[in-house]
Amino acid sequence: MHGLVFVTWEKYLTERFGSDLLNEYRHAIGEGIGETPLTSRVYSDELLLAGVGAASRLTRQTPDTLLHEYGRYFMLNGLISRLCAYLLNDIHSARDLLLAMSKAHEQMAYADEQVTPPLFGYAAMPNEPNGLYLTYDSPRKLCPLLIGAIEGSAERYGEQAQVFEQTCMREGAPTCTFAIRFMRPSSPSRQTGALGGGLSQPSQVAWQSERWEAQRRLADAVYAILPDADGVTLSEAQRRLRATFHDLDEAARPFIVLEAINQLRHAGWVASSANEAGDALGSRRYWRAPRADGEKSAF
Ligand code: HEM
Repeated sequence: MHGLVFVTWEKYLTERFGSDLLNEYRHAIGEGIGETPLTSRVYSDELLLAGVGAASRLTRQTPDTLLHEYGRYFMLNGLISRLCAYLLNDIHSARDLLLAMSKAHEQMAYADEQVTPPLFGYAAMPNEPNGLYLTYDSPRKLCPLLIGAIEGSAERYGEQAQVFEQTCMREGAPTCTFAIRFMRPSSPSRQTGALGGGLSQPSQVAWQSERWEAQRRLADAVYAILPDADGVTLSEAQRRLRATFHDLDEAARPFIVLEAINQLRHAGWVASSANEAGDALGSRRYWRAPRADGEKSAF
């Protein structure tokens, strides 16, 4: 399972139960100092399931309660808004986000073959433009996490979601199926949460979208200069950016270029050598991942 899940899981435990609990949790799962999870790595599914079991014992909450809460937290926390900006920022409703997630999760596996993301299928709900039937298939059977993520997506856009699980893999069904209805409250008490969730003033929304446009221009430029195989280091990527896009001021700042690479990585568009033995940030290589839709390049 992708490191982003492990990092946000520990963030959730800390914010929900406090740092003492997190320390007990790390002790319980044998996670030493310096072994905290990284978003750039992939870890075993067993580690996550053992972690949920340990957290359940320590917090006296059922595993499903924790997974549900965590799914909601996943969609609303700032790290996801930042790292998954490439996936999130051009989408303006929970239903559209859910519809985009099948391809988006599939693409993640093209960036890293150790990632085995969930499979989603969709069907329209007759006479219900805001409704949707969803099927979910994953060997991990994390349907409470999925329900939390759908509710969190709705909250992200100032909406509400009603989610009914109709069949469940845990009860022997081949897939979980859901009937989902999204509702937007009639009073416009919230502005769009598309760029990070939460309440935003119109001036803030305008500022956020300008900022995102600049970030996206940089990410598009980075994608354009990356090779399709072998990969280049961060400093070589910077050199290529400067040589190709002469007026791109951001190219001079490694941290900002790295942020753009990370956004592309979390959309599954860029692969890296982060999981190879001896990995270090300075020598880590990046290249374009194959595209799930078969296209050669987006630009
Ligand atoms: C409507 C929105 C979303 C839903 C319903 C959803 C659902 C899920 C579920 C249920 C899983 C658990 C894996 C499993 O069941 O096997 C998962 C994994 C994951 N999701 Fe999402 N997700 C959503 C949005 C996102 C976004 C915006 C990102 C941003 C990058 C993301 C990144 C991931 C990653 C990296 C994994 C781990 C994949 C793996 O290692 O197998 N998801 N998602």
